[in-house]
Amino acid sequence: MKAARMSSATTDETYAVVKDEILSVVAGETYLPARLATTACLLSEAFRPRFFWTGFYVVDPLKPDELVVGPYMGTLGCLRIPFGRGVCGACAQTGETQLVPDVHAFPGHIACDSRSNSEIVVPVRDADGKLVAVLDVDSTDYSAFDETDRKWLEEICEQLLKV
Ligand code: SME
Repeated sequence: MKAARMSSATTDETYAVVKDEILSVVAGETYLPARLATTACLLSEAFRPRFFWTGFYVVDPLKPDELVVGPYMGTLGCLRIPFGRGVCGACAQTGETQLVPDVHAFPGHIACDSRSNSEIVVPVRDADGKLVAVLDVDSTDYSAFDETDRKWLEEICEQLLKV
């Protein structure tokens, strides 16, 4: 059953289904944007409307200290984010997940859409451990994300480029 249709499922149950779905659809796929687009689509569908913007910023191979927008579901995202700037840039620079209950209180937050009020950003690494992208999920609610989201999104991102 598709995760998006499990209306009475708990968050853990929905994540378990969507994680299996993502990893089985992308398995063996060599084209990075196909993997990222599939992930953005399935997560966005599974957690609509809590996930208001769901997508990736990719490390630009020509400018390795800059992120450039990749596949996403949601309203218009800004195109480029330097490492260290805003929530995505902090994730890229530190290599650590950023769980932000109120984006307006985050130094340097980039407001692509003023309706976003909280977000979580998770690093995506290749099999050699090199940072390839960050997964950015925004919500119109404050404090929309918690440790359950962190755990599952980190697991999905950890395995995404290894299957
Ligand atoms: N919120 C991000 C910018 C990207 S958009 O929200 C799509 C940030 O501050 O890193």
